Amino acid sequence: MTLFSKGAERTVDTFPAPRGDGETATEQAAALIQLRGVNKHFGPLHVLKDIDLDVAEGEVVVVIGPSGSGKSTLCRAINRLETVDSGTIELGGVPLAVEGKSLASHRADVGMVFQSFNLFAHMTVLENVTLGPIRVRKVPPAKARAQAMELLERVGVGQQAPKLPAQLSGGQQQRVAIARSLAMQPRVLLFDEPTSALDPEMVNEVLDVMTDLAQEGMTMVVVTHEMGFARKAADRVVFMADGAIVEQASPAEFFDNPRTSRAQDFLSKVLSH
Ligand SMILES: Nc1ncnc2c1ncn2[C@@H]1O[C@H](COP(=O)(O)OP(=O)(O)O)[C@@H](O)[C@H]1O
Ligand SMILES: [Mg+2]
Repeated sequence: MTLFSKGAERTVDTFPAPRGDGETATEQAAALIQLRGVNKHFGPLHVLKDIDLDVAEGEVVVVIGPSGSGKSTLCRAINRLETVDSGTIELGGVPLAVEGKSLASHRADVGMVFQSFNLFAHMTVLENVTLGPIRVRKVPPAKARAQAMELLERVGVGQQAPKLPAQLSGGQQQRVAIARSLAMQPRVLLFDEPTSALDPEMVNEVLDVMTDLAQEGMTMVVVTHEMGFARKAADRVVFMADGAIVEQASPAEFFDNPRTSRAQDFLSKVLSH
């Protein structure tokens, strides 16, 4: 079963088409996300150093690296939750807006799934998923609810729709958070350590949903320590250290033959556990 290929009522037009056989996302020329010379400081701390990064439409980029290397800041900059000091970030060839309506529209196009779920505690699961579409996308409420139920079913939590987030397990809450992001019909989804706050037995139910999304052509940037997921689902691994992109390669290349000593060192630590 796949997330986007079930049922006649599926809103085909709103989701990316699956990749064709033999076609890989990296062969496509135009970058959906393009960063050039991006720098960011927090006071004296230089947290993003001359970042150049292209993410093609349909590509799945896994970002890994030691704690404090700037992975979250990178995601937050792409979603414009953080400003940058210099450089450019473009989505579909359009530079990020600084404020106003176009910023809101950019945020709606770039979904983000956080470690801590960030669901509204006082709203039901269904309300959490319909809020954005109704408020930001101006979808009529009845239609928003129907689409939300469809997405909740697809991530396996349809039964939980009337409940409050606190009544759900962490794995279920994170799947709701993914459904909430998908409900906005984003052009790209960013995940910042989406399984790090979960009990171990719930990690796979979330990774499975993400793997389905990846296989069905969603453009994704995923910060994670789940190396199995990176190997299986990534088109490309980006390794960051000290605010810079130190190395990037296909998962097979990166894991089997890391070129830099920073990457070798990092991998020997995470893979020995
Ligand atoms: N709002 C902030 N103010 C000051 N320093 C910050 C802030 N956010 C992150 N940092 C610092 O920036 C660096 C990069 O952080 P972060 O992007 O969260 O790294 P990672 O996600 O790779 O662990 C760290 O040294 C962190 O302490
Ligand atoms: Mg982080």
